[in-house]
Amino acid sequence: MFCGIGACFDCLLTVNGVRDVRACRRRARDGDVVATQSRDAR
Ligand code: FES
Repeated sequence: MFCGIGACFDCLLTVNGVRDVRACRRRARDGDVVATQSRDAR
């Protein structure tokens, strides 16, 4: 994480198949499937 307030793009993850979720702005829930992602993988 960099800013921790949702203002940058340094914490993007794929959550439950949805790309570009800001990890610093979303509370994890039981059963979430979380994966890292690269900037250029589409
Ligand atoms: S750390 Fe900057 S948006 Fe999440």
